[in-house]
Amino acid sequence: MRTPCAAAFALGVVALGPMGTPARAQPLTPDAGEGRQLAAKLCSNCHLTEGNGVAAPRADVPSFMAIAKSPRTTPESLAAAIILPHPEMPGIALTRSEIRHLIAYVMALRE
Ligand code: HEC
Repeated sequence: MRTPCAAAFALGVVALGPMGTPARAQPLTPDAGEGRQLAAKLCSNCHLTEGNGVAAPRADVPSFMAIAKSPRTTPESLAAAIILPHPEMPGIALTRSEIRHLIAYVMALRE
């Protein structure tokens, strides 16, 4: 079993590196618990962000469980979907740490 945290961390270095240097040091360890809270706050208007089977807020939006289980999903694809605002998704300003937490959370749902 690959560790999603290591993958997400590597991704952060590779894919998010060119976006610039943060003005001050940020914690770099992806934390799925942080990601879960961010998802509940920022993403749950549209996505079902918990795996508890409660009805999705919107039937036409994939749940985070479904996204996590899709074989197409990788930390890279998640980063792309989060960084490039998707249809209807407002351009939510996220720090690189927040993006890594969200990726860690979604990848953890797969297990
Ligand atoms: C305003 C509604 C809305 C919000 C808020 C929103 N999304 Fe989405 N999201 C969508 C819709 C609609 C789609 C499907 C669009 C598509 O496939 O192009 C989607 C698709 C995605 C996908 C790609 C799924 C796939 O594999 O096809 C990811 C990843 C994703 N959202 C992550 C997030 C994250 C993380 C947040 C919170 C930071 C978020 N979304 C907030 C509406 C939203």
